[in-house]
Order: sequence, then C-alpha cells, then structure tokens
Amino acid sequence: MTAQLIDGVALSKTLRGQVAERAARLGLKPGLAVILVGDDPASAVYVRNKVKACHEHGLHSVFEKYEATLPEAALLARIAALNADPAIHGILVQMPLPRHIDAQKVIAAIATEKDVDGFSVLSAGELASGLPGLRPCTPYGCMKLIESTGVDLRGRHAVVIGRSNTVGKPMALMLLQANATVTVCHSATADLAHHVRQADVVVAAVGRRNTVTAGMVKPGAIVIDVGMNRNDEGKLCGDVDFAAVKDVAGWITPVPGGVGPMTITMLLVNTLEAAERTLRR
Ligand code: GUN
Repeated sequence: MTAQLIDGVALSKTLRGQVAERAARLGLKPGLAVILVGDDPASAVYVRNKVKACHEHGLHSVFEKYEATLPEAALLARIAALNADPAIHGILVQMPLPRHIDAQKVIAAIATEKDVDGFSVLSAGELASGLPGLRPCTPYGCMKLIESTGVDLRGRHAVVIGRSNTVGKPMALMLLQANATVTVCHSATADLAHHVRQADVVVAAVGRRNTVTAGMVKPGAIVIDVGMNRNDEGKLCGDVDFAAVKDVAGWITPVPGGVGPMTITMLLVNTLEAAERTLRR
C-alpha cells in the first residue's frame, strides 16, 4: 500500500468533539428536528443514528415519526410550525417520502436558514453563487476529508463521478469554490478512464462497485469513495477497487470508515452553524 488512509472515523471524532465544545459555549442549545414518514427500515436506522449523534454531542433533537398515510398538507403544517419554533435550528425530513407526498414541495417548505440537509433550491443557489449557506452533508464531509490531507486544491484537477443533486453537483461546486479545475463525469460520459487519469482528486459517487480501477488513477491522487455497495459476499464496499487503487493513490478513503461517518458529522456541524447564525442575526 502506498496510499495514506484518510480516516473518516478519526476525523469525525475530532469534528464532533469541536461541535460539542462550540455548542457548550454558545449560550443556547442547537436543536435539530428529524421527521420520518413511513416504515422504511433503512431510513429508520439512519434517523436513529442522527438523533443519537445529537444527544451524544450536546445538541437538542426532536424526532417525529408519522404513518406512511400522513397527508402532504399535514407534513407541510408540521414544517411550518418547526420553521417558527425558536428551539429548532435545523429541520431534516428523511428521504425517500411516500409517493403521494411531493418531496420537492416539502424541501421547499423548510426555512432556508434551517435547511441542514442543504437540499433546497435556495441552498443549492447559495452554493452555486458562492454565498454563505448550509451545504449538503455528504459532499461537505468529502471536502473536510480532502482538506485533512493538507493538499491545496488551487489549480488541481478534480474529477467528480456522479451528478446527483445531493452529492455530485454540490461536490463539483465546492471543489470549484476551492479553486480546483473540475470535471463532472456521469453515466453518459464516453471515456471515464480518460478523465479520471487526469485527476489529482477523484470523488466517486456512482453507486456501482469497481467503477474506479487502479489503471484509471494517477499515481499520488486523492481518492474519495462515496459509494455504499455490497459485493458478492454481501460485504460493504465502495465505488473504488480499494485493494488495487491503494497501491497507486496518494490518499484514499476506505469503505466503511471513510465518507460514511462524515455525513452525520456534517449534519451536526450544519445544525451548530445554523444556531450560531441565529445569534448573529
Ligand atoms: N436519505 C438518505 N440520505 C439522506 C440524507 O442525507 N438526508 C435526508 N433528508 N434523507 C436521506
């Protein structure tokens, strides 16, 4: 192995400790409201972990669970009430929502200053315009992992694989904001390997294992793996062929233990930052 491991568990621990310290000094308790509609088992696990992380780091949290039959209007009314609640600084509605509920309408109903997922059109616009605002947690966490290498991104070539609204697109914009030259590849890209070979930084957010192989990676590159897939033995794996790429890359995130823990960490950071902003207003 030539690559240095970028340890998302260790970085999460450091950042979560800083959240707890800043929260304790704030003079108010940052509050997160988490809403789950329906009984998707994976969503239930994610939500439980988010609420637990709040409690462990000095944040207030409210968890609201509703039946899958909850009318859209009732959900919108709950969001309006949480928008007006001064004890709540962040609102997260777990996705996916039942089909009768328009997710875009729900996301748009969350006050922009409480949009700790950073999923709203206004939050996306703030990021695209280089304005301060709440950033989507997963790409924000990837930026922290990249920063932890100490490599200055100015003038470096970053290749993002994937163009989702939650990861790929915001990731590209954050890298651009950090003065990288950015290429976004996706399912219709003609020659993925050609682009990845140029990259000083690769962020893979595809959802298909072995998308990034050793032959595609420039020696010394930073490789960030957002993928969460299962291999034939049912073991968790990313989008990167870790076993081979670790011998070529300069830095690499493992799966599990890389990007995964950072998503909830950045949710805590966003909730804290949202609370800090209310004090500045
Ligand atoms: N479902 C899967 N990941 C997420 C996330 O980061 N936020 C929300 N709201 N729903 C999700």
